[in-house]
Amino acid sequence: MHAVAFIMKKSGSNACLLLVGFFVFAAGVRSQLTTDYYKTTCPNLPKIVRKVVQSAIMNETRMAASLLRLHFHDCFVNGCDASILLDGSDGEKYAFPNVNSVRGFEVVDAIKSAVESACNETVSCADILAIAARDSVVLSGGPSWRVSLGRRDGLVANQTGANNNLPSPTDALDTIISKFAAVGLNVTDVVTLSGGHTIGQARCTTFSTRLYNFSGTDAADTTLNSNLASQLEALCPENGDGNVTTSLDQNSTDLFDNHYFKNLLSNKGILFSDQELYSSDAAASTTMSLVESYSNSSYLFFQNFVNSMIKMGNISPLTGSNGEIRTNCRVINS
Ligand code: HEM
Repeated sequence: MHAVAFIMKKSGSNACLLLVGFFVFAAGVRSQLTTDYYKTTCPNLPKIVRKVVQSAIMNETRMAASLLRLHFHDCFVNGCDASILLDGSDGEKYAFPNVNSVRGFEVVDAIKSAVESACNETVSCADILAIAARDSVVLSGGPSWRVSLGRRDGLVANQTGANNNLPSPTDALDTIISKFAAVGLNVTDVVTLSGGHTIGQARCTTFSTRLYNFSGTDAADTTLNSNLASQLEALCPENGDGNVTTSLDQNSTDLFDNHYFKNLLSNKGILFSDQELYSSDAAASTTMSLVESYSNSSYLFFQNFVNSMIKMGNISPLTGSNGEIRTNCRVINS
């Protein structure tokens, strides 16, 4: 089904304003990976992945966001090597930014099993995450691109790395910029990829420090729109259930568009780290002008999002004889 038709059916939103068939091809990005890596060994791979992702999103719209985030959280720790998928209490799944938060593992299992049926022991779990992330963006109404492939799967998880390297919603902008720089991503990538928050949900616990200071009831964060603050306080009472969720983009929850950036201009970023891109002192000389540009041009946002996703997908891939092709994404081969 066409992406726009799909999202209109799912959300009933005003998706007709979207750029239809917005294809941007990977140009000028250097990589050890190639877009035709499985052309002869698994020619139907794109169709197989798309079908499972589509049915997962039909079942639960939010799954698109969850799959996009899985790829991001994989790539920032030991590179894009599917280390996040490894089970075990010492794994990345149980790191603070991931536990009770990242989701989509069962969908990845379903994709892997469909792929294994067609092309036994050929396609890595890391590549599946990259394709599923792209498909999730497309099926939510966002841009498409040709995914670079040929990653192999890591043999170890890195829980400490997940705790230290992944950005936190309470991080100041300079910290976030440093965490992106540590994996080779620049300030443009920070702003652009933060636009992934145009879809998906956040738990109260990830932004409640903006609503209450812990010595009283005064709003702790003056860069949060006061009407939105009241709504969020009603949803997330002090000492309430921190797992209740709200949309990261309150304007168009399930649609991949540039409303995330428009929201920042009216102090409606949900996470402290979101609003930092526009409202912090550091933003004036770094990120603010790009937020403004994206709020005016979904075309520019889409184009840059494609470039930044390809860059992120290229973080330290395992190739050649490094790593392995896991048969079960949750465990290394025996
Ligand atoms: C810039 C630093 C970032 C920070 C601090 C951050 C933080 C967060 C937090 C706290 C949540 C909510 C998690 C929860 O409630 O359990 C979240 C959700 C999400 N993030 Fe980020 N994130 C960042 C960058 C990114 C990037 C680069 C992407 C992808 C390109 C991304 C995609 C998402 C998506 C799609 C969701 C919703 C997931 C769902 O609904 O399951 N984020 N992020």
